[in-house]
Amino acid sequence: MSQKQQQIPRFRVGAQIEHIILLVSFTVLAITGLPQKYAATNVGEWMINAMGGIETVRIIHRWSAFILIAGSIYHLITGAYRFYVKRERMRILPDKKDAFDVRDFVLHNIGIRKEHPKMRKFNFGEKFEYWAVVWGTAMMAITGFMLLNPVATTSILPGEIIPAALAAHGWEALLATTAIILWHLYNVLVKQFNPSMWTGKLPREQMEEEHALELERIDGGGDPWPHVDAPNLIRRQRKFIVASVLVGSLLLALTIWMFTFEETAITTVPRVTQEAFVPLATQVP
Ligand code: HEM
Repeated sequence: MSQKQQQIPRFRVGAQIEHIILLVSFTVLAITGLPQKYAATNVGEWMINAMGGIETVRIIHRWSAFILIAGSIYHLITGAYRFYVKRERMRILPDKKDAFDVRDFVLHNIGIRKEHPKMRKFNFGEKFEYWAVVWGTAMMAITGFMLLNPVATTSILPGEIIPAALAAHGWEALLATTAIILWHLYNVLVKQFNPSMWTGKLPREQMEEEHALELERIDGGGDPWPHVDAPNLIRRQRKFIVASVLVGSLLLALTIWMFTFEETAITTVPRVTQEAFVPLATQVP
């Protein structure tokens, strides 16, 4: 195999599974949410009918929201395991070097700087995207829960909060979907196909371009997932298992409760069967 085609480790199986859960749940949420926002348009109406009607669409939306939130809880727990038990560094946190990388990247693109900045495991663009997903998911979950439980929400907050939550939920959905299509899909599919979320590896050439510092570290014998060999690993593992089972079950129970707490229009309002409208004036006495 040529040096150029050599595959460099990039993601572990756990991260690949999390990505699939996020990809599927987000896509279904967008496909079932956006036609609700644009239900008065021809395309929106056609999509809702094609998916089996508004009740079905809303039920699918809720189930995929549950999967997205369960996936986020799993991400939180596995992240905490790597940080607390394995003592891995949180390389996704932004720092000063990212700001310098942005500056050097712009200078390189406008021809003032000759060299492309050498970036680490996660470059500034990937960090920005990751934190946008974190913030966006939190925002969608909070506003989504308000829409699911309007009576409980307005018992502690003013009534205007429900239309505000609906507007925030719908516009954030449009922003997130547009960002995924224009930015994420462009970067991983169009600019250059990036196979790393499927194979766990990235070709050397792409690593050189996007993560040169990480490549130098791995070439120098570094572990792709560096961690500190701190003592008491087993003790930390035991403590973590107890804490994560407790916190995980609590968060999951809270999520299920939020989804089932209030009865909504799907279960309380019977479907209206349409009858032909006959104006009184035309009725024969
Ligand atoms: C994270 C958890 C989420 C929850 C709990 C949630 C829940 C809801 C609820 C309750 C509604 C009102 C319709 C209904 O009763 O079914 C709704 C509407 C909607 N959702 Fe979500 N959702 C979530 C995530 C998302 C995501 C990630 C997207 C898009 C990428 C999305 C897009 C939409 C859109 C566009 C609407 C229609 C808003 C409108 O009518 O203006 N939702 N969602």
